[in-house]
Amino acid sequence: MSTYIIHGGRKLQGEAYVSGSKNASLPILAASILNKGITRLYNVPDIHDTKVMIDILRYLGCKVKKNHDKITIDARCITRYEIPEELMRKMRSSVILAGALLGRTGKATFSYPGGCDIGARPIDLHLKAFEKLGINISENTGFITCICDTILGEKIHLDFPSVGATENAILAATLAKNTTIISNAAMEPEIVDLQNFLNKMGAKIEGAGTSEIIIKGVSSLKDQGYKIMPDRIEAGTLLCCTAATAGHIILKNACAEHLTPVLDKLQECGCNVEIRKNEIELKAPKKLQGIEIKTMPYPGFPTDMQAIFLSMLTVAKGTSVITENIFENRYKYTAELKRMGAKIIIEGKTAIVKGVRKLSGASVSATDLRGGAALVLAGLIASGKTKIDKIEYILRGYENLDKKLSNLGAKITKEVV
Ligand code: UD1
Repeated sequence: MSTYIIHGGRKLQGEAYVSGSKNASLPILAASILNKGITRLYNVPDIHDTKVMIDILRYLGCKVKKNHDKITIDARCITRYEIPEELMRKMRSSVILAGALLGRTGKATFSYPGGCDIGARPIDLHLKAFEKLGINISENTGFITCICDTILGEKIHLDFPSVGATENAILAATLAKNTTIISNAAMEPEIVDLQNFLNKMGAKIEGAGTSEIIIKGVSSLKDQGYKIMPDRIEAGTLLCCTAATAGHIILKNACAEHLTPVLDKLQECGCNVEIRKNEIELKAPKKLQGIEIKTMPYPGFPTDMQAIFLSMLTVAKGTSVITENIFENRYKYTAELKRMGAKIIIEGKTAIVKGVRKLSGASVSATDLRGGAALVLAGLIASGKTKIDKIEYILRGYENLDKKLSNLGAKITKEVV
């Protein structure tokens, strides 16, 4: 069990570089098996979740080479179509491989996925989309087997704009016989990145970024290189850590367009934000103003930023009100924040945060990826020493978070056990 030790109270100041996006890398790594050839990906973050995805690709028969942020996937030979339960449980996104495997081999076997404990997280929408595409689904003792001779394009309406179900439907339909139309699709920028990657390889997909995606099936894809988009949640996390410490940051390799609701809320808190090409500069006031936030599917305020904002608002002026509309169990980390002196009341989907003068360092435990990042932020503003254990959750999704924060002036060390 690894830990972060943070000595709080230091202003963050300087420049930071945003890594490649976790949530774009994972479906794009999975999509690489649709190409019976060699795919090169750049700007892939070196985090636990991408490592798990690479392990699964290797298990399926791919030859994968890794050189810093460059990954080469040779998917000429796929020898297996079942995703091992042990790897499936390590990461929810492993379910994305089902769509890619079906597109490539017509078969996929997997168990229910794992991931952070932030709610029920079923996969019914993924399976409904597969059924629409003519795929037979059977379930036996927790294992799901999907089989089809040919994938036939169809109209798929998602009951909710699920990110994963939209990606899985795209992956299963890319090499289908005819045209698939997904309505009420998720509009997240990571879906646009997946579309851009697949189209670069020869797919015919349009509409990603809107609620209707049209996929004209093609017979094969070709070898390509592709650079993954910057991680908008990492960018938002670094901005909030700076804002909470009354600091000043210039974020490089950041896409402001993907961060509109986050930047709007930071400005509402009193921060000065300047946007330049691939760069965001933020200057924070001495004391932030409390605000209201409601999480929504994109282009609404991202649920993945909820915990980080809440943590920042624990020391803001007045009372903040946060409503979590995407996941039903995403406030577990607030119990740890309360141990540091935060005043938070949870009423169903709503968190009421009464700003306090300061937080105090304590020993706390990460409960999930973004909740863990929220504790790091709390450690940066707390007086004295904060020890965060179970940081494996944080390492799932942040590349070198401790180093990036140290470069900005934070006193944070990682102890790997
Ligand atoms: C993705 C992101 C995650 C983010 C989430 C919402 C990745 C790897 N992860 O997760 O960081 O927090 O989008 O922006 O990209 N649902 C169902 N049935 C389904 C699928 C989803 O009921 O079959 C529900 C979920 O329980 C949840 C909501 O839909 O309440 C949103 O889930 P979804 O958009 O699918 O999130 P993920 O793709 O898992």
